[in-house]
Amino acid sequence: MGYLSGKNILLGVTGGIAAYKSAELVRRLREQGAAVRVVMTAGAAEFITPLTLQALSGHPVATDLLDPAAEAAMGHIELARWADAVLVAPATANFMARRVHGRGDDLLTAVCLASDAPQAVAPAMNRGMWDDPATRQNIATLEGRGIRVFGPAEGGQACGESGPGRLLEPEQLTENLAGLFSNAALTGCRVLVTAGPTREALDPVRYLSNRSSGKMGLAVAAAAAEAGAQVTLVTGPVVLQTPSRVERIDVVTAAEMQQAVLERASAVDIFIAAAAVADYRPQFVAAQKLKKSAEKQVLELIRNPDILATVAALEAAPFTVGFAAETGSVERNARHKLQAKSLDMIAANRVGADLGFDADDNALQVFWEGGSAALEKTRKSRLARQLVALVAERYHHKHNGDKVIKLHAKDPA
Ligand code: C5P
Repeated sequence: MGYLSGKNILLGVTGGIAAYKSAELVRRLREQGAAVRVVMTAGAAEFITPLTLQALSGHPVATDLLDPAAEAAMGHIELARWADAVLVAPATANFMARRVHGRGDDLLTAVCLASDAPQAVAPAMNRGMWDDPATRQNIATLEGRGIRVFGPAEGGQACGESGPGRLLEPEQLTENLAGLFSNAALTGCRVLVTAGPTREALDPVRYLSNRSSGKMGLAVAAAAAEAGAQVTLVTGPVVLQTPSRVERIDVVTAAEMQQAVLERASAVDIFIAAAAVADYRPQFVAAQKLKKSAEKQVLELIRNPDILATVAALEAAPFTVGFAAETGSVERNARHKLQAKSLDMIAANRVGADLGFDADDNALQVFWEGGSAALEKTRKSRLARQLVALVAERYHHKHNGDKVIKLHAKDPA
């Protein structure tokens, strides 16, 4: 499975001869599992056709800020929100100068301004332009704002000169881009995550279940792995691909999920229960398919064990994080569960309409003793990264206090 699996990459292409390498770059990014959308400047379209990049990315290439048809399909704000990362490759000296000045007078600069995703530029230009003090200063300014600069490489240039200014090779750019998603917040931690629904059999062909897709739980597992944790995912039936560097254990029922979790819970540092575990199961599971005969059928249900509460009550309990899907008062119910189940943290969300179950977007309110945080509605992959960052912060705070967190952030070893 590719190391950019599930990531939305917005590739900006600006007008330099190295733009021809963007075609290969799109291919590499997709090979690693990324979804790619390309935004080209007018200059870029002089070097490589939008059609080429459309065919390779599988999506129309956006070029114009003021194109009503394109804006109606996916405008600059939607593109900015869609992107998990923005890479501009090749980035010309002119593009970087415009970026430094916060210009938003074409689609690419407008998307870059609007996006709060991690961003990188891969400069490519003649060595003299690269060495010019203005370019040097622009690069320093961009780096100072947290924009990563990939390259350039040294070597022969299209102009016949030799020196720094070559675009990094697509393979290298793809690897560097993957690095944007990694951090060391949970390096050395073992994290156990539950996800998805459970299924409780009624007979050999029927079961009780719920609408959980597993998207949030899998996104949390992926985000924890990106944060450097060793992650085990115990998941009910879901149709999603396992995130890279995550060990996956498939279960069906709540009882199976509990067993898989309890076998591991005392050996992990953090337990995040994102699964929508069925609260009840049929008391009797019919050996044969139930026939329809009576007009009325009564199901006897018995309580399933509460996996989260069981883990939180262990003597060697890990840092325990629960979820709460609420239709009523989110804060009151979540704070009650935080206490009742002795959790370290709870992530609550309102369910219904277009939020929560089975949706791609979600919003969370996170509570812990003495604090809370609101994570705004966004895609579950992003939300999961924000949640994992909070979990890491509270986990380190509980174990080391604030002072050591700072040391830890600098020196994960
Ligand atoms: O009490 P409630 O079901 O709303 O709590 C939800 C939280 O508890 C979620 O984190 C869910 O994964 C966990 N849970 C569990 N085992 C159950 C029911 C819920 O781990 N049987």
